[in-house]
Amino acid sequence: MKRIGFLTSGGDCQGLNPAMRGVTETICTALGEKNVEFYGFEDGYKGLIYGKYRKMTRADFAGIQNMGGTILGTSREPFKYIQVIDPETGLDKVKEMKKTYSKLKLDCLVVLGGNGSTKTANLLSEQGLNVVTLPKTIDNDIWGTDMTFGCHTAVEIATEAIDRTRTTAASHSRTFLVEIMGHKVGWLALEAGIAGGADAILLPEIPYSVNKVASVIKKNAKSSRKYSIIVVAEGAMTKDEAKMSKKERNAHFAETGTASDRLAKSLEGKVEGEIRCVVPGHTQRGGNPCAYDRRFATELGAAAGQLILDEKYGFMVALKGDKLEPVPLSEVAGKLKYVPVDGEEVKYAKALGISFAD
Ligand code: F6P
Repeated sequence: MKRIGFLTSGGDCQGLNPAMRGVTETICTALGEKNVEFYGFEDGYKGLIYGKYRKMTRADFAGIQNMGGTILGTSREPFKYIQVIDPETGLDKVKEMKKTYSKLKLDCLVVLGGNGSTKTANLLSEQGLNVVTLPKTIDNDIWGTDMTFGCHTAVEIATEAIDRTRTTAASHSRTFLVEIMGHKVGWLALEAGIAGGADAILLPEIPYSVNKVASVIKKNAKSSRKYSIIVVAEGAMTKDEAKMSKKERNAHFAETGTASDRLAKSLEGKVEGEIRCVVPGHTQRGGNPCAYDRRFATELGAAAGQLILDEKYGFMVALKGDKLEPVPLSEVAGKLKYVPVDGEEVKYAKALGISFAD
């Protein structure tokens, strides 16, 4: 009998359900469903810590390949607190997770998570648990994989938000700041910005000058086009903000608002005409996965299932070129995959005339 646990952790994204189904179908096809038990932990690591789980069958995962969200629920359990005693219950969370794992006699825990969740998965693996992870996040910022599931769907949604903004911007000759998710890393803003034909894209990786953004808007206002679309990542910051310490910057952001609000205020008096902000927000993580993410997440799940059948643990399944490969969790944990400032995508965007206001 194989016993496999699942948890989905951190911000949700499209593709979590098909990824889990990919694992269960692969294992059941190989071993027969009578020879496998599945356990779904509720609301991420919380379920493993506090013993909140349900026994599940192949049927529970059937037909969920097109469903957004996660049938298990999720929560954020920041890594920095995972080894800290829970102040409310006095519980040692790592000890509790190991206890639940042993109680259920699990052969493997499958964690579908982003950066923080992968750090915790690595910790559990170091503590002797058999763990396999799958790279989920709309942000595409997990080190060690060329792509994460959820990102393609979110790029589609963000691009549609830009497209829909464009027609009304053109009708009214307005400037729109479209704020796209991504606090630390700007892949989503970059890709949607290029796909949506933005005039400027402001990324966390490339601090910007407000005057340079103003120049783009003024140039467009004088042209026959008259309107501007500026894509602003949630984590975009000015050159001055980039010089602040993290603590100073967080306090400054808390006082001055979101990335698009701050920019809109800073542009006042520098440009003529109306400036409006559009924030698609969590719609970027919502709804069903696109065909790419369904297929990609399902195949990642199949590759994770294969690792479990081969009893190879302590890995994240990653996309490398056109292959799915296991990458040791110890290599992935604690690293972020930033947009390379001098990389191909930024280079071609600049060649297209898109400004980064740098
Ligand atoms: O999951 C990634 C992400 O969507 C980021 O792009 C965004 O900054 C963050 O999560 C928002 O988190 P929350 O849903 O907790 O507000």
